[in-house]
Amino acid sequence: MGLKDRLGNCGELSEEQKRKIISKVKDKVKDHADITLASSGFINRDDFKDKLYLLISNVIEEEYPYLNYEIDNSLIDDALSEVFGLGILERFLQDRLVTDVLIQDREMVVIRNGKKENLGEVFSNLEEVNLIIDRIKSYTGKTIDQRVPFLNTQLYDGSRCSVVIPPVSDRIYISIRVFNCLNFDLKDLLNSGMFDERIFHILNRLVEEKKNILIAGSMGSGKTTLLNTLAKLIPKSEFINVIQDVPEIKLDQHPYVRMLTTRPRSREIDNEINQDRLVFETLRMKADRIILGEVRDSMAGYQLLQALNTGHRGSFSTIHADSSYDALLRLETLAMEYKPNISNHVAKKLICRAIDVVLFLECEKDKDLNIVNRRLKEILVIGNDLDKRGDYKLEYL
Ligand SMILES: Nc1ncnc2c1ncn2[C@@H]1O[C@H](COP(=O)(O)OP(=O)(O)OP(=O)(O)O)[C@@H](O)[C@H]1O
Ligand SMILES: [Mg+2]
Repeated sequence: MGLKDRLGNCGELSEEQKRKIISKVKDKVKDHADITLASSGFINRDDFKDKLYLLISNVIEEEYPYLNYEIDNSLIDDALSEVFGLGILERFLQDRLVTDVLIQDREMVVIRNGKKENLGEVFSNLEEVNLIIDRIKSYTGKTIDQRVPFLNTQLYDGSRCSVVIPPVSDRIYISIRVFNCLNFDLKDLLNSGMFDERIFHILNRLVEEKKNILIAGSMGSGKTTLLNTLAKLIPKSEFINVIQDVPEIKLDQHPYVRMLTTRPRSREIDNEINQDRLVFETLRMKADRIILGEVRDSMAGYQLLQALNTGHRGSFSTIHADSSYDALLRLETLAMEYKPNISNHVAKKLICRAIDVVLFLECEKDKDLNIVNRRLKEILVIGNDLDKRGDYKLEYL
């Protein structure tokens, strides 16, 4: 290496030197167990950038020891997208307004502020799309191929990602629910117009009074986002067990959070771990609160009702439903599906004792099905006993 090369341009790096640094960083990442998702689970984007910063400064020190170079954010961002090969996706993963990134073969659509933006054919060939899939595979350690042409996983920043490939589908589909924008506080939701000041105070009170809350709504209506912001209001001293399929809920500031994630059966793992098993384990872990990311199947629905009936207060969950009343009917159906021998009356009794409040989120869509507004439309309070006719005692706030 010549002296000129070693010195660089007095604190400047040429594009070629930057490329060389990034390529060395890429090699080093392979040897760094704590920087790959497979070994460390969830990685916070800022921690991740800190790690890359250290690697980049090590490489600069080795390669250009006499260069006094100030590492800027753009070099870290370039290294990030290069190392993980998500290239063009990176930009959208960091955009707070982007909620979804949808790739179909070479074409890409993003949903920004509820509106679909078709970016056209951003990939020049399918190789580039496959490269993205390879990168997703490589840091999750999961596989997708002709035998199992589906992949459900998370990206290194926690974004939820699903991949389907032909011949099951006509094209390659990669769907990403961007994680970055889930990082709201209840105040942010107030400011976004999801509810008004009156409801803001009611929500604070519900958490404070340890009410069991079920959040209902259609797909993408903001259930998980609202759940996450409510969970942030839980006192820091409490033990919180969070059960989810994909680790979307994030409670960085709480010291006693136990994150439990279900595990589907796959080629690599043959004993699947379901939601109901994790609810069962939670009962032994002395959790002050249980958060079940989403009530999806009858077993988990029933287990949750049982857990809440045995005195767990201040627990939250979400469910797909078209109104708050519909959420109760869905829970009844799930409970009776799992235990066909219980009557509808018993199912209702279990529910009214387990759930204190249902919050229903409505998604207003325009004629192109763009989400124009997410609104907390109903707060339904359920009395903890049935009336004489065997119906719920309901009150809308
Ligand atoms: N008030 C809001 N303002 C702006 N964006 C929001 C708001 N609430 C939610 N979002 C965004 O909308 C997207 C969908 O939200 P979320 O994942 O919470 O919905 P969901 O109802 O849980 O969806 P699913 O049914 O798929 O689980 C997320 O990217 C989220 O950041
Ligand atoms: Mg959700």
